[in-house]
Amino acid sequence: MGVAQFVAAPLALANRGMLGAVCAVVALAFAWLARVLNTPSRVYDKEANSVGREYDAWTSEGILEYYWGEHIHLGYYGEKERKGPFYGGKDFIEAKYDFIDKMLEFSQAQAPLKVLDVGCGIGGTSRYIAKKFPKATVTGITISPEQQRRATALAAERGVSNAKFEVCDALDMTYEDNTFDLVWACESGEHMPDKVKYVEEMARVLKPGGRIVIATWCQREEGDKPFTPKERDTLDYLYGEWTHPYFISIEEYGRIMQRTGKLQKIVTADWATETIPAWRHSVWVGVWDPWPVIRRPKLWWKVIRDAWCLEIMHRAFTNGLMQYGMMTATKPATN
Ligand SMILES: C[S@@+](CC[C@H](N)C(=O)[O-])C[C@H]1O[C@@H](n2cnc3c(N)ncnc32)[C@H](O)[C@@H]1O
Repeated sequence: MGVAQFVAAPLALANRGMLGAVCAVVALAFAWLARVLNTPSRVYDKEANSVGREYDAWTSEGILEYYWGEHIHLGYYGEKERKGPFYGGKDFIEAKYDFIDKMLEFSQAQAPLKVLDVGCGIGGTSRYIAKKFPKATVTGITISPEQQRRATALAAERGVSNAKFEVCDALDMTYEDNTFDLVWACESGEHMPDKVKYVEEMARVLKPGGRIVIATWCQREEGDKPFTPKERDTLDYLYGEWTHPYFISIEEYGRIMQRTGKLQKIVTADWATETIPAWRHSVWVGVWDPWPVIRRPKLWWKVIRDAWCLEIMHRAFTNGLMQYGMMTATKPATN
C-alpha cells in the first residue's frame, strides 16, 4: 500500500461515516418534525373555552381574515373548477360566496324574516343573507367575543343595519321557542361537545314552517367497517389540531334530527366532492401571496401547522374518512 492509499482509505471511511451521520441526523429531524406536526396542539377543552380562545386569537391576528376573507368555511367548486387547472380560474373567496348560495338553495328557505346564524364567525354569511333579504333581521351568534366585536364592526363599515351579533353559546341559547324562520349553521357543529343538544336547541328556536340547514365536517359512519388504527390516529389529530371535541357521521346527524321529534322532511347529502378543492386552494393562496406571514415571524410556526392540517384534511376528505355533511329539514306547523 502506497502512502497515498494509506491516507485515502481511512479518509474515505471517515467521509462515508460522516455522510451516514448526516443522513441519520436529517432522518431523525424529519421524524421528529412529523411527530410534532402530527401531535394535536389545540386540543378541545370545554372548561378553558378553547374554541372561543382560539377564534379570539385567529381574529385578532387577522391572518385568517386576510386569506379567507369574511368567511370561515370551505368554498364550492363546480365540475369545471374541480377538473380544470388553477381551479378553472376560480377565486378562492368567490368560491365561499358560491357555497353560501348553494347552501341557501339546499335549505329551500324562501324570503325568511328572522334568521339565526349559529356559529357566525366574523359574520360574513349573516351580512350576506341580510343584504339578500333586506326585510329580514339576521342574528349571528358566536362563542368568541373577538369575533362578535369584528362582525359588529364590519356590519357598521358595510352599512348592514339588519344584522346583529351576540356572544351566545349555541348549546344554551336565550331565544324563545319558535323564533326564527331560518336557522343556519355553517361549520360550527364540528366544535360542539354535545351534537344532540346542538340540534335540539336549533330545532327548538325554529318556527313551525321554518327551515333549518346545517353544513358540517363529518367522519364516515363506522357501521360494519370499524376505523383502522391509522384512521383513528388521523381522526384524533383532526379533532385536536383545531379544537374539535369529536365528529359524527352524516347518518348520525340525520338520526339526531329525526329523534328531536320536531323536524320533518329531513334531507342529508355529502358535498365532499364539491368542497375538497378548498383545502389545497387555501394553501396556494398563501404561497402566491406569502408576505403578510413572512413579515410576522411569530406566526410562522402556527401557519406551518395550519398548512399541514389543511393537507391532512384534504387527504381525509379525499379517501372518504371524512365527509362534508349537509342537512336540512323543516318544523311541522303543529309543533
Ligand atoms: C369554522 S367557524 C364558522 C364561521 C361561520 N359560520 C362562517 O361560515 O364563516 C366556527 C364558528 O362556530 C362558533 N362556535 C363554536 N362553538 C360554539 C358554541 N358553543 N356556541 C356558539 N358558537 C360557537 C365559533 O365561535 C365560530 O364562529
